[in-house]
Amino acid sequence: MAERSSRSTAVVVLAAGLGKRLKSSLPKVLHPVCGRPALWHVLQAARGGRPDRIVVVVHHGADQVAEAVRSWGIKPEPQFVDQGTPLGTGHAVMAADDATRGATDVLAMNGDDPLVEAEHVRGLMALHRRSRSAATILTTEVDDPTGYGRVIRRGTELVDIVEEADATPEQRAIREISTIVYAFRRQDLFEALPLIGRSNRQNEYYLPQVLKVLQEKGRKVSATMVDLGGGLGLNTRAGLATVNRIMRDRIIRDHMAGGVTFLDLSTTYVDVGVRIGPDTVVHPLTFLEGDTRIGVGCEIGPSARVADSRIGDGSAVQFAVVRGARIGRGVSVGPFASLRPGTVLDDGAKAGTFVEIKASRVGRGSKVPHLSYVGDTTIGRNTNIGAGTVTVNYDGWDKYGTVIGNDVLIASDTMLVAPVRVGNGAMTGAGSVVTKDVPAGALAIERAEQRNIPGFRDRKEQRKATERRAGRKAGDA
Ligand code: UD1
Ligand code: MG
Repeated sequence: MAERSSRSTAVVVLAAGLGKRLKSSLPKVLHPVCGRPALWHVLQAARGGRPDRIVVVVHHGADQVAEAVRSWGIKPEPQFVDQGTPLGTGHAVMAADDATRGATDVLAMNGDDPLVEAEHVRGLMALHRRSRSAATILTTEVDDPTGYGRVIRRGTELVDIVEEADATPEQRAIREISTIVYAFRRQDLFEALPLIGRSNRQNEYYLPQVLKVLQEKGRKVSATMVDLGGGLGLNTRAGLATVNRIMRDRIIRDHMAGGVTFLDLSTTYVDVGVRIGPDTVVHPLTFLEGDTRIGVGCEIGPSARVADSRIGDGSAVQFAVVRGARIGRGVSVGPFASLRPGTVLDDGAKAGTFVEIKASRVGRGSKVPHLSYVGDTTIGRNTNIGAGTVTVNYDGWDKYGTVIGNDVLIASDTMLVAPVRVGNGAMTGAGSVVTKDVPAGALAIERAEQRNIPGFRDRKEQRKATERRAGRKAGDA
């Protein structure tokens, strides 16, 4: 106990590489995995090491990476160190020499290995301290070890980490690989680092070489293997796909443990951080993204994309795209609806088939059942919007608002030309173009009076028949 409190850990996250195998303009560590950049996941996992300080080593895309990290509000607030031209993972850790001064331990982590969890890091640090090792590393088994450092053991003892480029064909067959989640006694680390060379196929300073140096000095090096689901990092697009699949699986399993039903795991995508209440059923082809919270007993999907939205208990969303919306309880959305940012559907409301709603509020129990566009509009309670209604909110230059009261009956094919207000209990006539405010309780009807012409059809038929006869005679002549 006394020892633990006297030790302090600096986490060093390596994020300076170019990621050339990805062939991307986006820095590798910012590629998203289930809705969050790889580096975000790594920084979450780093918390398992209870760091007193976090150092992120950057270079390629440094500003972009630093800006992203700052936006996540990580505590303790990460410091950034520019590595200069990246010459390998060992060189990257060396760049954090000053920034880690005073810490007793250094925990080095790759910024591109997002499957490592806080639990794994906690276990690693515990072993590192318990075993009094100079270095303790995390290893894992992957389905396809291509590109990773293979772990060479004699019995249980760690002998070496051999990089792909330097490995023999037999070594390449090994599926136990090294992560870069390495705990070091700081003093041992910085004594060993200057001794590693770059005489390898890639001409780089390899961090794993430090382990060799420490062993040669007779220092203790420990390794512990964890199950990361058969993948590790996103060096390639294939790796990125694998990592996303494993992460998605984990997320869905957690929701199932929390009482959520998924009808088809293989076509359901749930971002990290999404919350779903028990007894909700998630149907196939559903995407739950970003900052999304779904209540208890909902039916989501089939074919729904819900992003950055809230959905209250007992609501149903099918064949719909819902972005930046707030949906109350017992609401029905779709089939075939698009709810755009700023949409609020109060309890018991409905947005039905072929309906688009944007920056609008639909009050409690109000319904927009068919073929409508509602934008920049406030609708009160228990109002019905007839099929084909459009709030005409844009004159080609500016946007205007529409206000519709409670208990209103907007008839089919009403054009509400904004700015316009429709009072409580008012009605419109079907097909009306409403350009003036409608007082409470009034009927607004805007269309030419209908004229009925009696006997028109018969007279028309007779005239046609006479014409045809006359035509035939002229032809005979
Ligand atoms: C590295 C390990 C390998 C391990 C694998 C796990 C080395 C030599 N190899 O290989 O044993 O199996 O990680 O994922 O360490 N970086 C820098 N500066 C540099 C080089 C890299 O910050 O000069 C950063 C990268 O941005 C990346 C991380 O370090 O986030 C790892 O670099 P990467 O080139 O992906 O190493 P791997 O080939 O994956
Ligand atoms: Mg890598």
